[in-house]
Amino acid sequence: MPKSENKINSMDYRAVMGLWPTGVSVVSGLDTEGEHLGMVIGSFTSVSIEPALVAFCPQKSSVTWQKMKENKNLCINFLSDRQSDICWKFASGELYGRFESLDYTKNSNDIAEIPDCSAWLDVTIDNIVDGGDHDIVVCRINALRKGSINLPMAFSKGQLCSTQPITNLPIDHLDQWEQSIHSIYQ
Ligand SMILES: Cc1cc2nc3c(=O)[nH]c(=O)nc-3n(C[C@H](O)[C@H](O)[C@H](O)COP(=O)(O)O)c2cc1C
Repeated sequence: MPKSENKINSMDYRAVMGLWPTGVSVVSGLDTEGEHLGMVIGSFTSVSIEPALVAFCPQKSSVTWQKMKENKNLCINFLSDRQSDICWKFASGELYGRFESLDYTKNSNDIAEIPDCSAWLDVTIDNIVDGGDHDIVVCRINALRKGSINLPMAFSKGQLCSTQPITNLPIDHLDQWEQSIHSIYQ
């Protein structure tokens, strides 16, 4: 097939990818001066259990990402469905104003943890792979914990959404799932 026929229109790409729902997280880190930074990331994914690896894809041109990647320690803050204000702040707010009036704590590597998230992952960058106009950042998990019982936030068709279950799984199935998660990470 000639190359031109293989060209995907970027509007089509966005429209179709909008039909693939993602979770919503804020990846926080530090610049080389020790200032807190963070950006919203929908491209987060779990990768490997042994070793425990995750990945996300920041746009190469993102100023936040350029400044954050020097210090290899990051925190992945999983947003809950009550945190849309935080999502918009970290997707568009002024670079160094995103933590303003936010009562954040810090993990053992001094990285900001956003309060009331569904979970937090303390990670270190392991490898950065070329992914076109984005980087594919593979991170090692140092520690992780659950937080708010609110439902996780999702992003679908250009909108922030909640994540209601569509089927009622038997309760013992959910218990088994919880137990398998605990046996892996304890
Ligand atoms: C729901 C949602 C998901 C996003 N996912 C990503 C992503 O995976 N990668 C990315 O580079 N930007 C993503 N963005 C956009 C960035 O959050 C935004 O461009 C960034 O915070 C701006 O940082 P900058 O000022 O450094 O460019 C997403 C935005 C939203 C609202």
